[in-house]
Amino acid sequence: MVACRACGTPVEKFMSFGRQPIANRFLEPGGTQSEYFFEMEVGTCPKCTLFQLIEQPDPGMMFHDTYAFFSQTSKGMQAHFEGFATYVKDTFLKGDDPFVVEIGSNDGIMLRHFLAAGIRHLGVEPSSNVADAARQAGIDTISVFFGVDTAAAIAEERGLADAIFAANVICHIPDIAGVARGVARLLKPTGVFVFEDPYLGDVLEKTSYDQIYDEHVFLFSALSVRNAFAPHGLELIDCIPQPTHGGSMRYVLGRQGQHPVSERVSERVAWEEARGLGRAETFQEFARACERSRDALVSLLKELKESGKTVVGYAATSKSTTVLNYCGIGPDLISYISDTTPIKQGRLSPGMHIPVRPYADFLADKPDYAVLFAWNHRNEIMAKEEGYMQRGGKWIRFVPDVGIE
Ligand code: TYD
Repeated sequence: MVACRACGTPVEKFMSFGRQPIANRFLEPGGTQSEYFFEMEVGTCPKCTLFQLIEQPDPGMMFHDTYAFFSQTSKGMQAHFEGFATYVKDTFLKGDDPFVVEIGSNDGIMLRHFLAAGIRHLGVEPSSNVADAARQAGIDTISVFFGVDTAAAIAEERGLADAIFAANVICHIPDIAGVARGVARLLKPTGVFVFEDPYLGDVLEKTSYDQIYDEHVFLFSALSVRNAFAPHGLELIDCIPQPTHGGSMRYVLGRQGQHPVSERVSERVAWEEARGLGRAETFQEFARACERSRDALVSLLKELKESGKTVVGYAATSKSTTVLNYCGIGPDLISYISDTTPIKQGRLSPGMHIPVRPYADFLADKPDYAVLFAWNHRNEIMAKEEGYMQRGGKWIRFVPDVGIE
């Protein structure tokens, strides 16, 4: 029995996604021999309701010096981060000479807006290659993991923070209690901690199990965030749904009793309780929905192969690693995955070893079908790929259900 990373209660396991590799470790051809795998099981805490991986690889395996995820590769996300930065600035930075800290600041996609506004800032980003990219753009960044020691060092050197924020990062940090202690150490008495991550409610509603992979140790809900941070004197004061990553939630926390609590918190918690986000049966039903989704996707791809159609993947996302390995889909069913990120091109997808090729190949090859792995960027992609669709190219979707369009 594994102990809940937030409260120590034994976690109840409800399913396994089988043997999974590191989702963002794209391999050099010929470098597949020593690939690392782990059994990806998930469970929930019966006490604080936190949804979590049972086992997670060492963070050093995931966020290394060749980490393949650069935030600035998607236009939609750039606009989103600008909006997030504006929200923090306009809502919470009212005092003189504010200081903000971002946990997991990646290539500086959000902090550059604070730099441009002349606001004192610090990025905490353990992957040195993306942190270097941020520093080159003039964004103050340190390459360490965030925890109570880092928080204390920052507080001593630069003072307490008016706002600490993170986007798609807190769900990556197994020591959630350490994050909470760090935030409690670094925040001003009236400061806020704002973070957003894929939302458990959306994952359950859409069977978007591809949000679960090695890096995503947690899928949060308002209930679990409230429960995980309360013992550290941090109160959930707002939760605002976001369209990113196929459905995310922005959580705002402050020190207990320092801020009014939005009605959105009690409304969201009531919805989650009614939807069964804390109940074992809900997760058993989710496990069955994942199995149905897997079987439907594999049957569809096999049928297309038998009828001689060409099928490729569109975008070698981290999420696609879970789908491909859980479903056992390899190069026999998807000949390659097109991706716009230069460092992924020419490599093989983790675990199933499907070649990743430049986007130019997708445009030149005109495949019959493309599996939409970046379904969360659907609008952006549909607008860009009118030509593909006009000449009869079709999409295979697997969220919220498996189908062709
Ligand atoms: P994203 O959904 O942000 O990834 P993740 O699941 O890793 O969080 O998608 C980013 C990846 O998708 C990145 O490798 C670039 C690729 N991509 C394309 O190749 N074409 C596109 O049009 C888009 C939007 C993304």
